[in-house]
Amino acid sequence: MPAPDVDPLGTAEWLCSPAGDEARVRAAALADEVGGDPLRAAARLRGTGLPPDQASAALDQVVLHRLARERGMAPGPGMLLTRDGLEAATGPVVARHRADLIRASGARRVLDLTGGLGFDTRALTDAGLEVQAIERDPVIARYLAHNCPTAHVVNADATDPSVVPGLLAELAPTDVVFVDPARRDPHGAREATTARARPERDPERWSPPWSWVAAIPHPRIAVKAAPAFRPPEGWQAQWVSVDRTVVECATYSWDATGHSRSAAIVLRGTLRGVIPAGVASESFAERVGTSVHEVDPAVSRAGSLAALAAELDLRPLGPDSSWLTGDHDVSHPALRSFRVIAELDGPPRERRRRLSSLGITHASVKCRDVAVQPQQVLRDLGLLEGSGPVIAVTRSREATMMLLAEPIQPVS
Ligand SMILES: C[S@@+](CC[C@H](N)C(=O)[O-])C[C@H]1O[C@@H](n2cnc3c(N)ncnc32)[C@H](O)[C@@H]1O
Repeated sequence: MPAPDVDPLGTAEWLCSPAGDEARVRAAALADEVGGDPLRAAARLRGTGLPPDQASAALDQVVLHRLARERGMAPGPGMLLTRDGLEAATGPVVARHRADLIRASGARRVLDLTGGLGFDTRALTDAGLEVQAIERDPVIARYLAHNCPTAHVVNADATDPSVVPGLLAELAPTDVVFVDPARRDPHGAREATTARARPERDPERWSPPWSWVAAIPHPRIAVKAAPAFRPPEGWQAQWVSVDRTVVECATYSWDATGHSRSAAIVLRGTLRGVIPAGVASESFAERVGTSVHEVDPAVSRAGSLAALAAELDLRPLGPDSSWLTGDHDVSHPALRSFRVIAELDGPPRERRRRLSSLGITHASVKCRDVAVQPQQVLRDLGLLEGSGPVIAVTRSREATMMLLAEPIQPVS
């Protein structure tokens, strides 16, 4: 049987039209009626007279919106989404934080060179900025224009030498060029289990590549880079974590953040604080205190651990440890705090005996600074995985250290 004609741009145009809008609303209602079963919803939708490609496109949007909500992306109800676009999109709190920094540093306009589905573009326009957004993929550019009606969208390749110079000429020196390079090639290799396009670690293989971005002839460039990115001297960097996972290294070519290096902590949908980097400390804990504190990974990436420790009167457990310790209670958004029950030392048999004497049968294991797998630790200690006590495995000076601890409920 010949494959049906597929016209992605035609379908995109239809989805953006009032008829497409109506079909998406109907698809959402039908999907609810049939308990979310996509096959039954598709059959019911085709039964209303919609051609199969339009029925499937409308239903795809329902599924993608559900996925986006599950991931906390908070898409506006009329936004058009794609699976790859969602993978690459910036979460709402992080996008708003960047937009606020850009606005606060005096910009009026932003040239967004890699618009995508427009999650960043929307945050920028919502912050009161005038935005020109470029997107090279024609379908995504159509969705971008639909999703960000107040932005001026251009479907073009930003690296085409005829595109950017004219747009740069319209910016004041305090305005900003924003780039969120594509780090996954939609046509490249996919991961076997998730079918996600593989992330590209080499910044020269991003689109556009880092060297191209760094050479844009404008004084204010903001870049969303991968968490592992190490920005060159002269660029500010802010590692942003969301619920304890570092999601990006936000990089600025001017003083946008007030600090050369910093960490921004987002917890449960709220920006909870920014922690600037300090001078690396030579002072480590002489002994384990009554409490230990697991530091948010953005803090470690930014080199802010010593500054945070000094502020809270805590000490790192060792030069390569991302744990702090002290003898007083502390509550801080960048810390997960635990009360120490016991230091587990000696040979494995002795550790097992100690755990058994304490009646511990289940624990969760945290191995942040050592090349040991939690499952291996559980096996060695004869424990089952479970909530409750925590086994923290870290480095204290030269040695591996194992602590049994229990979570302290945060004060707020
Ligand atoms: C990481 S996504 C942007 C996501 C966006 N910031 C958001 O939060 O929704 C990168 C986008 O840049 C586009 N892109 C990649 N290279 C480009 C280029 N040379 N010119 C214009 N767009 C490009 C890709 O098609 C992709 O949609």
